[in-house]
Amino acid sequence: MLLPSRGLDTITSRSGLLFGADYNPEQWPEDTWADDINLMHKAGINLVTLGVFSWARLQPSEGSWDFGWLDRIFALLAEADIRICLATPTASPPPWLGHRYPDTLPTDPAGTTLWYGSRNQFSPSSAVYRRAALQVTAALAERYGKHPSLVLWHVGNELGQISYDDETADAFRTWLLRRYGSLTKLNRAWGTTFWSQGYGSWEEILPPRTAPYLHNPTQVLDFKRFTSDALLRLYTAERDVIRKYSPDVPVTTNLMGFFRGADYFGFAGETDLVGNNWYTDPAQPQTWELGALTHDLCRGLSGGRPWLLMESAVSAVNWRAHNAAKEPGALRTDSLSAVARGADGICFFQFRQSAFGAERFHSAVVPLAGEDTRTFREVADLGGELQALRSLAGTTAQSAVAILFDWESWWAAESPDCPTERIGVMDQLLAYYRPLLRRGLSVEVVHPGSPLARFDLVLVPSLFLLREEHAAQLESWVHAGGTAVVGPFTAVADADGHLRQGRFPSVLADMLGVTGEEWRPVADAVGIDFRDSEGNLEAGLPEGVNAAAWSEDLCLHGPKARARATFTSGALAGQPAVVRNGFGAGTAWYVGADLPPAALQHIVGAAVRDAGLIPPVPDLLPADVELAIRGEWHFLLNHSNESHAVRLRHQSVDLLTGQAHGPDLVLEPHGALILKATPDTTNGTDTP
Ligand code: GLA
Repeated sequence: MLLPSRGLDTITSRSGLLFGADYNPEQWPEDTWADDINLMHKAGINLVTLGVFSWARLQPSEGSWDFGWLDRIFALLAEADIRICLATPTASPPPWLGHRYPDTLPTDPAGTTLWYGSRNQFSPSSAVYRRAALQVTAALAERYGKHPSLVLWHVGNELGQISYDDETADAFRTWLLRRYGSLTKLNRAWGTTFWSQGYGSWEEILPPRTAPYLHNPTQVLDFKRFTSDALLRLYTAERDVIRKYSPDVPVTTNLMGFFRGADYFGFAGETDLVGNNWYTDPAQPQTWELGALTHDLCRGLSGGRPWLLMESAVSAVNWRAHNAAKEPGALRTDSLSAVARGADGICFFQFRQSAFGAERFHSAVVPLAGEDTRTFREVADLGGELQALRSLAGTTAQSAVAILFDWESWWAAESPDCPTERIGVMDQLLAYYRPLLRRGLSVEVVHPGSPLARFDLVLVPSLFLLREEHAAQLESWVHAGGTAVVGPFTAVADADGHLRQGRFPSVLADMLGVTGEEWRPVADAVGIDFRDSEGNLEAGLPEGVNAAAWSEDLCLHGPKARARATFTSGALAGQPAVVRNGFGAGTAWYVGADLPPAALQHIVGAAVRDAGLIPPVPDLLPADVELAIRGEWHFLLNHSNESHAVRLRHQSVDLLTGQAHGPDLVLEPHGALILKATPDTTNGTDTP
């Protein structure tokens, strides 16, 4: 049977790139709505998200409903030809629900109830909450599900709640029973012979509530898996209700990028399109790098297909300790970064700045000061530019490089009993990603179980927990000719979080040509020398390369393994720190230390050459400049207040102005160029 297509292309094939905002008309008198719509047109907005937090307005008490205002705004938007993304309002239940049914409220690990008066006050495992959420979802889907202006469903908001209440404990036990089948198996998996934790009956088992000392790491890992599943079940329950009444309209939810609380590879498989929220932090000069990585995760989540930036800020947010405003031009470069990395739409939180409530100081498309503002003008300019780029919609950004990332490994690696906090998972991801950014190489962040055949280079910055089957897949991909770079403390634990027996990195030792006997977090930095393939000291690296936090007691394993860097001080002096191994038709690198950026730059550069990749720039890009390629479109974005010179390998033509450029370009402060290569001068000799 051919399933109906409900992808993002069903919207963008008619509209081109989407440009939108969360719109909360219920916060404003109805006589301002016509002005709002007029301003939407001026800004080039073609999509608005309604109803994210309007449950109390739609259902003022348990038995009463009020859809009149929503009917009226639907009609106005339809008349104005603005498409609608309708949210289910289930992220913020009305006070009557918590008041009447306090068991719907979540509790923290210490058992404290989290009350209404804010938002997100529900326990994902509460049956009463779920019933109420599905009721309001059904009411909306039945009423609006076939409305011609409705193009997208937005389930809840940033699903991420955690609760430790009694109903959750029950649901956790049911989940564990399904996972393990017997208490004997659970006791074995959780290693409960340690610290006298053996469970004699299911009733004894609890979520990891506040305890006197360190928790059982497998109990914590399973609770994270359970919570992620519970959130996904809430999503799918609402989605399935929507489907009954609105079978042709795509359904999604707004993810939060590298959010710890839920495994988005599971979510991505259940959504019709991947939607994500991303908020740059203008107080952090390199914030755009995490943005780029997050966008590359979105492409990985959507299997390379276009995705939707569902929320971003036009300027400052209000929820950080210090909410810096964006520099002029940064709204454009931030948004184009997402487009260049596969977004088929840019949406903002929110359309009109709230005058009241906890987000009064959050920037918006229409600030309190109105349309005669820099912010509104920048939004409108961007809206015009996205119209000019409309033919990008539906195109893909191809990547020859993958980074493997896995939520359950992240959860397991952050257990407080691990040897150090100084090689954090996100820090490692960014450290291995930056050398690719500097080369303008396109990357997809994918799950370790994803097929790897379409990639030439795979980076594994840190996968503490690596399942046997995923290790075997990586190994056979390298054996068949792939190139991999594996970071420290990888493949340490199995799926239960148990440490593997024998010399590490056990399941990857043959592929990596290395075995080790001790992880040695360092008290004082240890020195490292880099060697070329003949074993000579390498030139070109800064003096005094040090590992600041981490070293591993390694030795070479197998005939093709070569030490490409050795420790020069401390207990491991003379032993390998970085190993390159020929494995079958491929090459694998292992990095047994936390390398500083210049050294990692060097190793990743060597692996890029091993993989036969030619970066699109002959020199490394300046640290503030992003180059992202989507189809034949090269986006050059300057994320700083200074101008930067950049050399490409080719001449190009500016897609917006038609101006021809040679390979040498200058980017203005916060400037952006969107270029199409004219490949006559391409040469591949001087790869960095
Ligand atoms: C999140 C939420 C929005 C809003 C913004 C503010 O992304 O989904 O409701 O709170 O943050 O930045």
